[in-house]
Amino acid sequence: MSRDLDTLLKEKRIFKPSKILTDETNIKKWMETQDVHDYDELLERASENPEWFWNDLARELEWFKPYRKTFEWNPPHAKWFLEGKFNIIHNALDRHIKGPNREKIAYLWEGESGEVRSLTYIELYKEVNKFANVLRGFGVEKGDTVSIYLPMILELPIAMLACAKIGAIHSVVFSGFWAKAFKDRINDSGSKIAITADGFTRRGKIINLKENVDKIMDKTPSIEKLIVINHADLPVEMHSPTDVWWHEIMENSDTECKTEEMDSEDPLFILYTSGTTGKPKGVVHVHAGYAVGVYTTMKFVFDIQEEDVWWCAADIGWITGHSYIVYAPLLIGATSLIYEGTPDFPDPGRIWGMVEKYGVSVFYTAPTTVRMFMKFGEKWPEKYDLSSLRLLGSVGEPINPEAWIWYYNTIGKGKCPIMDTWWQTETGMHLITPLPISKLKPGSAVKPFPTVIADVVDDDGKSVVGGGGHLVIKSTWPSMFRTLYKDPDRYVEAYWSTFKNIYLSGDVARKDEDGYFWIQGREDDVLNVAGHRISTAEVESALVSHPGVAEAAVVGKPDEIKGEEICAFIVLKENYKLEENLKEALINHVRMEIGPIATPACVNWVSDLPKTRSGKIMRRVIKAKVKGYPVGDISTLANPEVVDEIDKLID
Ligand code: WT7
Repeated sequence: MSRDLDTLLKEKRIFKPSKILTDETNIKKWMETQDVHDYDELLERASENPEWFWNDLARELEWFKPYRKTFEWNPPHAKWFLEGKFNIIHNALDRHIKGPNREKIAYLWEGESGEVRSLTYIELYKEVNKFANVLRGFGVEKGDTVSIYLPMILELPIAMLACAKIGAIHSVVFSGFWAKAFKDRINDSGSKIAITADGFTRRGKIINLKENVDKIMDKTPSIEKLIVINHADLPVEMHSPTDVWWHEIMENSDTECKTEEMDSEDPLFILYTSGTTGKPKGVVHVHAGYAVGVYTTMKFVFDIQEEDVWWCAADIGWITGHSYIVYAPLLIGATSLIYEGTPDFPDPGRIWGMVEKYGVSVFYTAPTTVRMFMKFGEKWPEKYDLSSLRLLGSVGEPINPEAWIWYYNTIGKGKCPIMDTWWQTETGMHLITPLPISKLKPGSAVKPFPTVIADVVDDDGKSVVGGGGHLVIKSTWPSMFRTLYKDPDRYVEAYWSTFKNIYLSGDVARKDEDGYFWIQGREDDVLNVAGHRISTAEVESALVSHPGVAEAAVVGKPDEIKGEEICAFIVLKENYKLEENLKEALINHVRMEIGPIATPACVNWVSDLPKTRSGKIMRRVIKAKVKGYPVGDISTLANPEVVDEIDKLID
């Protein structure tokens, strides 16, 4: 693939943002008030004095009670805005109601079928209050968890915001996962309340969510109420007394509701993400630090101004949507677009038509989407007027220079800087990213956000310049995850133990002579398929749960559009009859166990997997073969003949 290290090393182009643009940016204006003269000085001063930077921004939000100390960093544990009383919803909604944003549109929503809805700040505030009252009526209290499994409809942010308002912790499960993921997450978090919808359409095809949820409800003993939204008018079976209709319980609910005063460090949400083992990690974020972090990046990276129309084309079920669809746009008082459907449905002009229709000015998507549209050709964006765009963003995986240039020229018409933002579920906000005043190099995420100290280190933890190494973070940041839900040991072990008290991102990166970061991808057994994190262990355990499978190894295979594809190597059980459609059956089995995003692109039969003499699978051997790298030292391999077998399969 073109984002190989070699190509990146050759990438020398530099793009300078225009002076008119930079002079009017939020960051430039802020720097003037602080007597900071340029980007380098900003980064230097901020890393020397993080309190200065964050205090000034935290002051732009409202506190029920001021905090006493900006942060306390006892690695690997951080606390921010200590002793402050705060609620993210007071800042995302309540304060706008008293000011000029009251009648401003908060969310513009378009369904896959073309249906349009919108909510002003006051309307959203009322909906959130109504649902918050419903939750309180069902006995939900501060600190309780609520599990949410919804498509991209307005009720999803409403439900999340209502939880936060009363101090409940939301746990959202991506609707593209199968309901089994919902069950596991409900049981891990012990929620009393679950929220879902009848269903939705994807590329015109009906997905019956409620029917799937019904299959797992008898295995979720903590659930007392299942709230169901009628979105697609599908026939559903309601089970009494658990199931209730959203529209019925909302009907007479009060539009006023008191916002709970939270401690800065009280949990806001759990979001599960894939790690190197099969068990997903429940990443925990808190009210105040998270709010300050996402607000600040929205202001300085995406430079959101009064009249902007913001579109983060991600799913709310992932961290990108939590931070940059639900919370940050509201914290800054923006108008943002939410789209329910697939970007190329019913044709590849869909999203460009929406940019024109709504006058989108700042647009954020993943490289996989850019590469997909590159393939469809320029004729699609050329049909529409994209002149409203002034800034573009990229997230989720490395963007190869070729796709960067296409995005810059064909979509941005050579006038929109691209913010290639590197971050993770755990980081909550962008950590390595350009600002609109930075010089850009296509394919590089540029430099750490002010105050963040990032580095690339070798196995001994020593900084490396020029070559590849582990991407680590050596500072704390406000929207840092605080722990893994019910698993504090794993928090320390997975992230802070390889290099003691230094955050291990799990990515490989390179830092060039100008201090620019070039992210190359995951170094652990986590795949990045179309910008989504999937662990090989999760797919493998789904595969071996099929009666015919004895052993399975999954590796990522480079793919031009998705970045990586899932490629499985299977050893069948002895005497298992190789049915004709077994490959399809296995692929389907994984879809049913995890969800469509984990669909293996290829399944290969092998007689054995490469193993050490002690019986450990040497996945790196398969990985090297699939990626076309040298296999390296295989002297400890017990069965070298399978390497030839894999070789033949790959040719
Ligand atoms: C992983 C985190 C953060 C929102 C989306 C994914 C990869 C993310 C970039 C980027 C290169 C990137 C990394 C990271 N990643 N942004 N701009 N350039 N790689 O969140 O599911 O927690 O995945 O996504 O590999 O570790 P996530």
